[in-house]
Amino acid sequence: MTQGLLRFNTAGSVDDGKSTLIGRLLHDSHAVYDDQLQAATRASRNGLDLAFLTDGLRAEREQGITIDVAYRFFSGQKRRFIIADTPGHEEYTRNMATGASTANASLILVDASKGVLPQTIRHSYISWLLGIREILVVVNKMDLVGFSQEDFWRVQNQFEAIAQKMPGSHIYFIPVAAVAGDNIVRRSDRMPWYDGFTLLEYLETVPGAEEVEDAPFRMPVQYVIRARGERGYSGRILSGSIAVGDEVLILPSGKRTRVAGIPSFDQDLEEAYAPMSTSLCLEDHVDVGRGDMLVSPDRPPKSARSFQARVVWMSDVRLDPSRPYLIKHTSQIVCANITRVISRLDVQTVSEQPANELKLNDIGLVDVETHRPIFCDAYRENRETGAFIVIDPVTNLTLAAGMIESVHERKQVMHSVSGNMGITVWLTGLSSAGKSTLCKAIYERLWARGYRVEQIDGDEVRRNLSRELGFSKEDRDENVRRMGFLAELLTRNGVMSLVSAISPYRTVRDEIKNRIGSFLEVYVNAPLSVCESRDVKGLYRRARAGEIPSFTGLDDPYEPPLAPDVECRTDIETIAECADKVVDAVEARLRSGREPHLDPALDPLPSELNNPLWTAGVTQEPRNLGRTVFSKSEE
Ligand code: ADX
Repeated sequence: MTQGLLRFNTAGSVDDGKSTLIGRLLHDSHAVYDDQLQAATRASRNGLDLAFLTDGLRAEREQGITIDVAYRFFSGQKRRFIIADTPGHEEYTRNMATGASTANASLILVDASKGVLPQTIRHSYISWLLGIREILVVVNKMDLVGFSQEDFWRVQNQFEAIAQKMPGSHIYFIPVAAVAGDNIVRRSDRMPWYDGFTLLEYLETVPGAEEVEDAPFRMPVQYVIRARGERGYSGRILSGSIAVGDEVLILPSGKRTRVAGIPSFDQDLEEAYAPMSTSLCLEDHVDVGRGDMLVSPDRPPKSARSFQARVVWMSDVRLDPSRPYLIKHTSQIVCANITRVISRLDVQTVSEQPANELKLNDIGLVDVETHRPIFCDAYRENRETGAFIVIDPVTNLTLAAGMIESVHERKQVMHSVSGNMGITVWLTGLSSAGKSTLCKAIYERLWARGYRVEQIDGDEVRRNLSRELGFSKEDRDENVRRMGFLAELLTRNGVMSLVSAISPYRTVRDEIKNRIGSFLEVYVNAPLSVCESRDVKGLYRRARAGEIPSFTGLDDPYEPPLAPDVECRTDIETIAECADKVVDAVEARLRSGREPHLDPALDPLPSELNNPLWTAGVTQEPRNLGRTVFSKSEE
């Protein structure tokens, strides 16, 4: 026996009779308050129009359509229900997406006299994308087709194509006439060929909320507050739960600590769980800021700047990969590019088709790159950290709702931004190895080819940004990090950044390389003896004379790159040869970044039909699926 709460949504085209259906359900299951009944009777012109029981919104009454998500709560004998009554108009796909996101089941309405329409397909698919696996196709207005079994079968067969695209879902069909109440709460005697469940029986027995206890802990920090003299980090728990003493991982720093307390207004809590908004005090004094995320250390989210997602495009303004967008993900807003449209669902053929753009109501698969990392999961693993919306940075309007399918590997970051030529070329090597000279030669070549290019020179950075720094390991690392930071900003904005600095320590070079992603390491190599003989600035001589302590290569270490992208032997090769080599490597890297991703197939949906219930249903003469699963004996 299923208990508790069921959230479901309803979707269909205009005039499929959703409001009437819900009204009939509420009325016949005696879930309507008397005052609502009277108000609806008053509002109806001839007798009682059941739609008025559902249509709470005035605008809807005026226009005769459903325009926003209306939530209805009612209690049946076996369960409580929350209905998100989502609208049918194509342009309200957006509400469809938001209304369905917490639902356990979807009722898809089809007008028996019209059959399956593009919206039916779109709404069913969106429900499936949103993770809803219980789908009831309510074939309504059976009275208009003379309660014909053939028309009911026709809808089932029309639904076959889309059902194949919804693996894992449990799809049932029910013939009803909502106006008269056939098969809503009472079994119809006008369709003796149907011996399945009524709508209410379905709703009372369909599996409800999944177990969510197991979800990993995720809490983005929205505010840092003072709670009784201690620092508290507050935000909404998106998923999972947390108790005093539990270990948490802080992102992006990667530090771990434990929860020292969960302060609350009256008394401190021992435990908090999603979707509570709460504050946590941590054991160690760690650096946690707004926008950081506290997560379970054993199952952390991914840190991603590049991912593939399904989007439902909800704006008249088409998706344009050359335009900047904002992405709202959990409580953060980040700058992003939708770098590529991979495919688009063709609702006529119910297949994924290659596409370059998305327009209103399209459902597409896209590549997204964000400027800062977001901490996310695939939507199928976590609806909260896997969902996002796309916002127009100029108008602030919501353009799309998205669901993360998979996170890209780091190496793809930035390279694939179409038209983004940003890359950092990092020249490392001993003093007098030829870094500055080579850098200038590379600069001129790239410039001549029309690229936007900038030079970040060690000596200049020391003069302008790092004046207080000396040559200890700490100071050099700090200096190099500053250059890395500058290069990252430029690279992100499409500028080729040529950095020349001794940068003697491997660890910090690797750190920057990982951070920037679009990065070429060039080892400017000449034997120490050659560098010393060149002694461009006379520093080796002074160092030998004891005037400059900790001089790199003499009494201070230089750690050469273990696997440089390019090695230039400036003692053997000419500067021109070296520069050409580097420019070739830069262009090869850009080309490889622009190559299409290796998609296993354009149709990314699993093709296997792993839904035996459905398979059973799509025969010439559909078996009645309801009886087999929701039998009377279960009541
Ligand atoms: S790094 O080690 O922090 O990467 P950077 O390339 O910015 O060094 O600066 C090196 C320049 O500082 C050299 O070209 C040289 O002119 C000057 N310099 C002064 N003292 C030292 C030193 N002890 N070791 C190396 N370079 C030094």
